[in-house]
Amino acid sequence: MSRPTPVDVVVIGAGAAGLMCAIEAGRRGRRVVVLDHARAPGEKIRISGGGRCNFTNRDAGPRNYLSANPGFAISALKRYRAQDFIARIDRRGIAWHEKTLGQLFCDGSARQVVDMLTDDLREAGGELRLATVITGIERAADGFTVATTAGSVACRSLVVASGGKSIPKMGATGFGYEIAERFGLALQPTRPGLVPLTLDPALLERLAPLAGVAVEGRVSHGKTRFEEGLLFTHRGLSGPAILQISSYWREGDEITLALAPHTDIFARLREMRAANGRQAPATALATLLPKRLAQLIAEREAGAGNLADLSDKALRRIDEAVNGWRLKPTGSEGYRTAEVTLGGVDTAGLDSRTMEARTVPGLYFIGEVVDVTGWLGGYNFQWAWSSGWVAGQVA
Ligand code: FDA
Repeated sequence: MSRPTPVDVVVIGAGAAGLMCAIEAGRRGRRVVVLDHARAPGEKIRISGGGRCNFTNRDAGPRNYLSANPGFAISALKRYRAQDFIARIDRRGIAWHEKTLGQLFCDGSARQVVDMLTDDLREAGGELRLATVITGIERAADGFTVATTAGSVACRSLVVASGGKSIPKMGATGFGYEIAERFGLALQPTRPGLVPLTLDPALLERLAPLAGVAVEGRVSHGKTRFEEGLLFTHRGLSGPAILQISSYWREGDEITLALAPHTDIFARLREMRAANGRQAPATALATLLPKRLAQLIAEREAGAGNLADLSDKALRRIDEAVNGWRLKPTGSEGYRTAEVTLGGVDTAGLDSRTMEARTVPGLYFIGEVVDVTGWLGGYNFQWAWSSGWVAGQVA
């Protein structure tokens, strides 16, 4: 067997975190090889943000992340901030805009971000080996030996940046978790996050007329709430507010929808009843909500008759149905459509300044494989950039 090619750093995964880390390590003069089984680098970047890549969030901070240890992300996010990535995008001349809630997107295409990273990697002297399957990883006296279908590589530092399980069709695997377990690191249980929620068939049938209806709503789960778009689909609920809450929701939990969170439905219906009691409740509600939603709620809560027939108690019931609609999703659409994987490599086993495994010197975990998961809105890429950058300073 031929001797393994000696390098300083092997990065497993040419995604957002892996490319960032490899660039930084390369700029420090380290000899870096990035291995990926995919045919192209940064595939999730390319399809992200509807093809425009929501590459960061201007306000990214630890409160925007879920983790068994909520303080873990603080150090990396402080050392490499959203502003640092924006400066990189600006230096490259990529035009961008803020869409909403601090979410920054390319004006043109997400490909510009992938090209920036692969060009930077090349300039930093890093080598990208695509379509390469890793067949084994062994601990060596002064590092690791990584066996692949294209020969073996020996390295001092091994950086695992293989992402989560979301969208297996795009090459996502649980490989990073296997490596962590193999080296004795603990895992936090994984589950799909930022994912549409499904409803039971009986409820779905009743809500069938709403498929396609969207509102600017508020969704709550306990004390956590998000006010963003909410969409009824033929499978259940989707839209940014639902994706956000899905990361907090657990099977068996209830969520509460407010479909017109800034409208006092009770007060408005009372006014309308006083002004024109002969109106049908559905017609009155349709001035406050999308028509199909107004119809469904009025049919369910008001029955036949007009506004004048409805007592204050009945109006309150309608108000509750609109802004305090409690329901129990039956599940989620799973990894097939989830944007991220919650859980992962337990942060207790990692140094928050460097992402190095505490018990295995030279082994690093960065990006989504780590138990740090961001909200929807550019936070996940910022975690990939920040964790990749800090590891790249030392690996
Ligand atoms: P990432 O998944 O990017 O990269 C992992 C790499 O490892 C891949 O290239 C993969 O091929 C490789 N790999 C996996 N297993 C391997 C193995 N066994 N051997 C070799 N290589 C292997 N976030 C955000 O902030 N803004 C956004 O706009 C979006 N939009 C978005 C849309 C969609 C449809 C999805 C699915 C996700 C998003 N996200 C997002 C989330 C974001 O894409 C995600 O959090 C980051 O890509 C994570 O970066 P990583 O580098 O950790 O993993």
